[in-house]
Amino acid sequence: MPRRIRGFFMIELAPSILAANFACLGDQIAATERGGATWVHIDVMDGLFVPSISLGVPVVKSVRACTGLKLDVHLMIVDPIRYIGAFADAGADNITFHLEAADDPDAVISAIHERGLSAGISVKPGTPLSEVRPYISKVELLLVMSVEPGFGGQKYIPESTAKLVLARAMIDEIKPSVRLEVDGGVGNSTVTEVLGTGADLLVMGTAVYGHHPEVRSRHFTELFRKFEFSADAERSDQQ
Ligand code: DX5
Ligand code: ZN
Repeated sequence: MPRRIRGFFMIELAPSILAANFACLGDQIAATERGGATWVHIDVMDGLFVPSISLGVPVVKSVRACTGLKLDVHLMIVDPIRYIGAFADAGADNITFHLEAADDPDAVISAIHERGLSAGISVKPGTPLSEVRPYISKVELLLVMSVEPGFGGQKYIPESTAKLVLARAMIDEIKPSVRLEVDGGVGNSTVTEVLGTGADLLVMGTAVYGHHPEVRSRHFTELFRKFEFSADAERSDQQ
């Protein structure tokens, strides 16, 4: 598969705290920061849009108080516009909502922007990119789910790779500054394939928090830097 590397952003790691040990969450987040993570990915599930109930506003607030890392709030909730204000007040930097969960995606994007935050829009594995295309020019981030949302620790859906490549092409065509985020089943066995698509924000839950968060974060962020370096070298060879 051809590499699609741009270099608009550094590739960044967003560990998902869904897989963290909540008894010592602050320490665990600090460990990922020492390892090079630059975001905290917070999965908000309402038991309706997805079967699970996970974290809510108080957790975002507590995390905000204990870290300077950027907070990436992933809303897996129906009618997300109801909670934009609350998550903005709690300290989110980016709020991503699901296209499938919003009656009026434009209104949700505006509500996020009114709070001065970065707006992300997400699609489930079965939702074609054509459905999200009209919103790309209006957001800062596109999140392509590589598992069915709802649970951590699932297996990466192989078809996600081709979808990510198409997503990157769509972003490059419409608004190249949009970040391409991938979430679900990204870890040792899939990270190289995922990087090859041009995704530049990688969510990892189990792969980071399942085992020594600092060591795992360092491992993956060093891999990102090597990947960027080799992509740069490849580009200058071609010039
Ligand atoms: C799934 C969540 C993911 C999940 C990722 O609905 O959005 O963020 O926690 O976990 P892993 O990396 O373990 O698949
Ligand atoms: Zn997520």
